[in-house]
Amino acid sequence: MTEHVDMRQDIEEVLFSEEQISQIVARIGQEISRDYAGKNLLLVSVLKGSVVFMADLMRAITIPARIDFMATSSYGSGVKSSGVVRILKDLDLELKGYDILIVEDILDSGKTLQYLTRLLQSRGPASIRICTLFDKPERREVEVFPTYVGARIPDAFIVGYGLDYDEKYRNLPFVGILKPAVYA
Ligand code: IMP
Ligand code: MG
Repeated sequence: MTEHVDMRQDIEEVLFSEEQISQIVARIGQEISRDYAGKNLLLVSVLKGSVVFMADLMRAITIPARIDFMATSSYGSGVKSSGVVRILKDLDLELKGYDILIVEDILDSGKTLQYLTRLLQSRGPASIRICTLFDKPERREVEVFPTYVGARIPDAFIVGYGLDYDEKYRNLPFVGILKPAVYA
């Protein structure tokens, strides 16, 4: 017999519905299309958390754009970022001449994005900016200034729409907070 367990039963509260997320993504897509008109836009998605956002955002952008992917992992496990970032998969493209927009799922301590921005900057792109779907400003430990922010959220651990807990819940179409029992 097939066991059928719905992930939604682990969610305490929905913070952003599919509809709300799609409105946010449409708004950012318009801003980027306006700001990068005539530029050489390269969207850089940081795996794995930003894949869902990236897939929707690139289709909300109406100007020509290229995409590339990179995978990082911060040393240490759990819900805290250590700040030491390891490159698991590098970009395929050379960055010279591109206007880079790093696409992230969530900005927390800022350590991952500070490291990545510096690394990509050293490769001599025309410009480099950050687009993050969610931002937790209270949690910032280092200075990182995102140009595009979907929504600012309070200090809570969220899952869904690409964001995971223990590699799960990325495929939830909305964003929510887990029930405390799930962590126990
Ligand atoms: P930072 O280096 O502390 O800014 O960490 C950013 C990374 O931590 C994100 O790309 C996520 O992978 C992870 N992260 C931070 N907050 C959350 C959250 O609320 N839910 C899921 N992942 C999170
Ligand atoms: Mg991530």
